[in-house]
Amino acid sequence: MTSNFEPRGCGDERESGTEDMDRIGEAPGRKLLAPGPNGLQAFHFYFVMRRDRLSFVKRMADGFGKVSCLRIGGRSLMVVASASGANDILVRNSTSFRKGPGVADAELLFGEGLLTSQGAKWAGQRSAIAGAFSKIDADRIVDCVQCQLDIPFDGWGTQTEQSRNVNITEWIASIAFGVMGTLIFGTAIDATTVRHNLAVVEYYAMRRAVAMFPKLTPHWPALSHAIAALNSAAESVLDKHLLGHREVQKDRVDGPALAAVLESSMRYDRSEHLEQIRTFFLAGQDNVVAAVVWCLAALAERPSLQEQVREEIHVVCDGRPPRAFHFRQLKLTRSVLFETLRLNPPVWAITRTAIKETMVDGFSVPAGTDVVIVPYLINRDDLRWSRANEFLPDRFVDKATVKSARGIVRPFGYGPRSCVASDFAMTEISAIIAGLVQKYRFVCKTSQTIPLNPGFALKPQADVTMTVSVVS
Ligand code: HEM
Repeated sequence: MTSNFEPRGCGDERESGTEDMDRIGEAPGRKLLAPGPNGLQAFHFYFVMRRDRLSFVKRMADGFGKVSCLRIGGRSLMVVASASGANDILVRNSTSFRKGPGVADAELLFGEGLLTSQGAKWAGQRSAIAGAFSKIDADRIVDCVQCQLDIPFDGWGTQTEQSRNVNITEWIASIAFGVMGTLIFGTAIDATTVRHNLAVVEYYAMRRAVAMFPKLTPHWPALSHAIAALNSAAESVLDKHLLGHREVQKDRVDGPALAAVLESSMRYDRSEHLEQIRTFFLAGQDNVVAAVVWCLAALAERPSLQEQVREEIHVVCDGRPPRAFHFRQLKLTRSVLFETLRLNPPVWAITRTAIKETMVDGFSVPAGTDVVIVPYLINRDDLRWSRANEFLPDRFVDKATVKSARGIVRPFGYGPRSCVASDFAMTEISAIIAGLVQKYRFVCKTSQTIPLNPGFALKPQADVTMTVSVVS
């Protein structure tokens, strides 16, 4: 028997109604182009996109279906809101695409780091970095998170205070930077500086991604300053690393992952190493912060669910700090996390640019087309999920394993370029959430819906503040 909350499809299967299109599209000589707005309507959609990217993709999907295309000023932007289309682009035809708007527009930051590199260069980096992550034991991540939770947070006040308004976003960011500094870089990072400057780069990259003529975007001094500040933070990480015993750390399973990553390069290239470090500045914490903040916000809005989660953690962990082996028994906690990742996936959009003509869900995608795959919409598809827009963690409670829930929600993407650190990230966010809920009670200051900021990650528009009290 399937429960009312069961997803109605698990991802890779073709969406209903697209099989016929596939046949039409793939017939010799027939090219079926994705529908989209024309003439003045296209300009209207373009301005919606510039104003509000999330509203733009929603309107495209509502108006033209799960695969649609905005053609304007010589540019084509395809919006893909189907799991089968995502699969076509990211798995079946992954070699026909390179990274697209947004990430590619932040090239000054990432250079040829793992997020943006291509071809043989990417393959070499990927296997080195995946190897480095596979050596990080889950218990080491949990220990590291516990240490970060024990460090007094500046915005929390003295330990004796029982209840305070806390900037949750800043707090989680300081924890995520702490974990990244310890396990990946082996040295502390100035979280405030890096966060501030990443926000500047993100603003610029998003503006450029939606510009009609990206190459004409004027040089922007604030961007140069931000890149310079991030580079000097990366220089400091690299210099501290080089001062250390990198040869010793390289093969040590408990050494920082950076040692293995950098030492595995074929030759020493300082600028390449800095690009990789700057890539990790963003990739290693932005999505983690978004996931944890959304999860805590969901719990703060639902006090009784929060108590149930706390009770589960108390029972399973027997009053002691959570360990990695506990996570598979924390069924409700895990369900809340997956429901959060379904409704507010940190990577709300995945972009690509077609480098050769290909087919997506039966539609022809000419070379040069930019494509935006929208997990935010795929995860809210009411043909796949009952009561798709409601927060109903129970839909995941019966999922036998974390693996099956991950396979349905796919927070870490699809195919060869999916998240290189997905296991690391899953352990980290589970440990942060379980550790925090065990120790603290979270209350929302306001019950109003939190406005969204769809940037690199789907974040709240402003830092989220909550009243936090110590659980007695
Ligand atoms: C909740 C946390 C996270 C989520 C939801 C997430 C999600 C994703 C997704 C969806 C992609 C694929 C993007 C694409 O196809 O264009 C990706 C790629 C990547 N992620 Fe994560 N990520 C998370 C945490 C992390 C962490 C903690 C790290 C590093 C410490 C990391 C490093 C990377 C890197 C380097 C890539 C690029 C991989 C490649 O292109 O080969 N991520 N991530």
